[in-house]
Amino acid sequence: MGMWGKRDDMVVHGQEPFNAEPPGAVLAGAAVTPVDAFYSRNHGPVPRLDPADWRLVVDGLVTRPLLLSLDDLRSRFDATEATVTLQCAGNRRADLTAVRAVTGETPWGPGALSTARFGGTRLADVLVHAGVAPEAAHIAFHAPDVSPSADPPQPYEVSVPRDRALAPDVLLAWTMNGAPLPTVHGAPLRVVVPGWIGARSVKWLTRVTARTTPSDGYFQATAYRLPPAGRDTEGVTLGPLPLNCAVLTPYDGAVLPRGPVEVTGYALAGEGRTVARVEVSTDGGRAWSRTALDEPDGPEAWQRWRTTLDLPAGDVHVLARAWDSSGTGMPESPASLWNPKGYVNNAWPRVRLRVR
Ligand code: MTE
Repeated sequence: MGMWGKRDDMVVHGQEPFNAEPPGAVLAGAAVTPVDAFYSRNHGPVPRLDPADWRLVVDGLVTRPLLLSLDDLRSRFDATEATVTLQCAGNRRADLTAVRAVTGETPWGPGALSTARFGGTRLADVLVHAGVAPEAAHIAFHAPDVSPSADPPQPYEVSVPRDRALAPDVLLAWTMNGAPLPTVHGAPLRVVVPGWIGARSVKWLTRVTARTTPSDGYFQATAYRLPPAGRDTEGVTLGPLPLNCAVLTPYDGAVLPRGPVEVTGYALAGEGRTVARVEVSTDGGRAWSRTALDEPDGPEAWQRWRTTLDLPAGDVHVLARAWDSSGTGMPESPASLWNPKGYVNNAWPRVRLRVR
């Protein structure tokens, strides 16, 4: 077994902080990702919090500040569970770095995304109990892990707008795939904000603060912003994720025998939308054929797809693209999406195969 109970064959991008993604074939293997294969994205050392002393503070613009133990959360609020796909803003960055260098960021493949059954309670129930003041427009999530990559180094803190925090799908989770949340995934308690960049799903949560403005922490105010092309440093704060898809098997660069080959991957729609279809092309995008798409395990979960292609000998590029329920497709080229931090790549994935 590898670090933090992960499989030995994880693609480890860094040990400290620990950043790892599952190989494509492993990710493709199950609708709910086993915990030992679930990707791990950290900005600093993983803190070990003793669940017995741990408390959650709910404060800021609330009428009734709260101090809650894990038992309080379990006994005073309704339990709920959902299958949720978490996706990092840097998922599929490698396709952008192939266009042009992205400095200081991990070149994630398509595995900075995984799906789990998260259990806990609704953040909204806790916030309603605390009584969020009308002027509180943002809800900040604070954790104790100090990131050396932040400028200056500081604990992890981000926020989401009030309406997102109060939606019934946002969880305070203490279980993952039916077992207690593992340390590396945020024990004893993490936030799960489905459909938004993984950065908002704060692990090792210790404080929830209602505020008038977004968090001024580094990971809200500086990182996870899409830098614009010009010198304007404002950038776009990332939140909801766009429609995306990826090819998981065969791997880019694989050498295969002639004949039928199964191509598999996943697709994930943006908030409030579903994936309508996924198509593949082997002629550079002139002709497309439809793939078989699984039903999602709930509105916040990915869908896996597969198709069998009869590939001729030679170099074959397989392209994929998804369409969502609003008829929106995906952009063709990673070059058209390249940005200095390499965020939110949802261009058509391409795998280059050599068929003999
Ligand atoms: N929460 C804390 N406290 N510290 C972190 O570094 N990383 C975020 C988010 N929550 C992070 C965090 C990012 S960028 C992602 S993509 C997800 O956690 C990854 O969750 P995972 O490691 O459980 O897969």
